[in-house]
Amino acid sequence: EKGGYSTYMEKEINEQPQAVGDTLLGRTDEQGRLTLDELRIDEDKLRQVDRITIVACGTAAYAGMVAKYAIEHWTRIPVEVSLAHEFRYCDPIVSDRTLVVSISQSGETMDTLMAVKHARELGALTISVCNTHGSTIPRESDAVLYTHAGPEIAVASTKAFLAQITACYVLGLYLAQLRGGSYADDAQQVLTELHDIPGKITELLDGMERVREIARFMADTRSVLFLGRNVGYPVAMEGALKLKELAYIHAEGFAAGELKHGPIALIEPGQPVFIVVPGPSTPHGLHGKVVSNIQEIRARGARTLVIAEHGDTAVEPFADEIIRVPSTSPMLAPLLTVVPLQVFALELSSAKGLDVDQPRNLAKSVTVE
Ligand code: M6R
Repeated sequence: EKGGYSTYMEKEINEQPQAVGDTLLGRTDEQGRLTLDELRIDEDKLRQVDRITIVACGTAAYAGMVAKYAIEHWTRIPVEVSLAHEFRYCDPIVSDRTLVVSISQSGETMDTLMAVKHARELGALTISVCNTHGSTIPRESDAVLYTHAGPEIAVASTKAFLAQITACYVLGLYLAQLRGGSYADDAQQVLTELHDIPGKITELLDGMERVREIARFMADTRSVLFLGRNVGYPVAMEGALKLKELAYIHAEGFAAGELKHGPIALIEPGQPVFIVVPGPSTPHGLHGKVVSNIQEIRARGARTLVIAEHGDTAVEPFADEIIRVPSTSPMLAPLLTVVPLQVFALELSSAKGLDVDQPRNLAKSVTVE
């Protein structure tokens, strides 16, 4: 049942190309335009949306953070991400033009369910991004956009995360398409690139041996930091969460720009730091800014584990290790950059002899508030 793998998590990491591909499948017409009739929401109603709030917990909330950058960039509709349990009890500002998107693999997370029910009571339009057919959150929502990751058994979410990001991209690009004009043209181009992602994940998964080795050497490590910027920031947070959950190691994800506002004080000789580097074509010179961050922490003795696109030579002088990922458009990068971090956490956990699929104190679906 584990398909020849020794853990479900490893199997699920390897199923990610398919999870992304299947989530895209059947959602475009012959002209290559997105069709989301399955939502059964009047297009005009979607055109009127003037604000989006994403509610989710844990890894699903990090998918939401990625979605915020992408959807705002593609549609110029303001998007906010709220942890579901915070949203529910903070007197959220919601109108009938607010779209509340919940993200949940299980569809049974009580915190997320309560947030959705509350949003509906307040008059919002609710869409559930969910991996489990017939589960409670989709039933309690106005519409559902299913992720097609297949059953996820390991407690640590991997393929569902990639499928959630993909579904949110689809939703964002669809909203851009509805806006028309240059929004629609740009969306069309990104969609073409999105279809290339499954092949790129396969290529990436084939080259993970060095990441495994690094993880095995680090079995005694007590703390790991993760830095990222823009869409790389939630990837850094997800890398840290995976390591906490699976290897019980203290780990923190930071926005790279925050370094000088405090966290750089943590850097001491030998401190391992993963840095998720934006592709060189990322707007606003973000690539160069993150490369300077790497330089700064290396100068203070950090051990820099750099995730960078193939061909990005600027990182070379400051990297102790470079983990290469295929290049793609900046907003889509999380579907690639998170993969080595998943493999790293998995391998470190097994190097410590821990139960990868069933980490201590955790349940696959959290059905209490
Ligand atoms: O089923 P859900 O997507 O609603 O679950 C949300 C979180 O509990 C979940 O992502 C959790 O953080 C995972 N264990 C992360 O690996």
